[in-house]
Amino acid sequence: MSYMSEKRSVPKHVAIIMDGNGRWAKLRGKERYEGHIQGVESVRRVVRAAVRNGVEYLTLYAFSTENWGRPAAEVEALMTLFCKSVINETPSLIEQGVRVEIIGHRSHFSDEVRSRLSEIESRTAAGERLTLVLAIDYSSRDEITDAVRSIARNVAEGRLKADDITEQTIGESLYTARYPDPDFIIRTSGECRLSNFLLWQASYAELYFPQTLWPDFTEEDFDKALEVYASRERRYGLI
Ligand code: FPP
Repeated sequence: MSYMSEKRSVPKHVAIIMDGNGRWAKLRGKERYEGHIQGVESVRRVVRAAVRNGVEYLTLYAFSTENWGRPAAEVEALMTLFCKSVINETPSLIEQGVRVEIIGHRSHFSDEVRSRLSEIESRTAAGERLTLVLAIDYSSRDEITDAVRSIARNVAEGRLKADDITEQTIGESLYTARYPDPDFIIRTSGECRLSNFLLWQASYAELYFPQTLWPDFTEEDFDKALEVYASRERRYGLI
């Protein structure tokens, strides 16, 4: 049942750190990449559940800048998986009204991966129900560093006065400038860290750390997470 029809508080923007693929695979005596393959099924389920619940923005942490340090074979498998998933899922995403946008440092990707990612962005650009933001090669500190650089350049070149820099100036200089801040951040697998994900944007977000490993995360788990969100009182530091 949709939470919208019950007029409950639905977060406009949900962000998820999809963690536990490796442990899921290990528990089954499988290779790590099989955990990632299974993780794509969870992505599919969660996108469906987000659309059904009327969530407008869903950001998924798919690959952190630190992930380049994993064994080459795993990085390669993840890249192949992104490309394949993107191609296979596009028709269903279009049908569901999902627009896909990518944030992160695209420059490190191969031409093949880069062009696949651009392709899915342009093919889904008309989607109006849910914006699915894939954070790939994303690091929040990199993002903030880039923002500081561009603001400093604007000051140095006389387009902006230092005293006129506000929180809004910074927000508008981040990769996420066109999205509202996340209301709700979920990290699966029981780890309780943000790991360089949306550090500036997470200022007022509710955080939730279910034990479930990402490949086991179901539509019902997403619905339950939204119930947890709805049950929390959000005071923004006020009394
Ligand atoms: C973290 O689990 C997961 C990743 C680094 C990769 C996430 C990617 C997917 C689920 C595929 C998504 C596909 C698309 C198209 C967005 P881990 O490997 O760190 O798990 P562990 O902590 O148990 O080792």
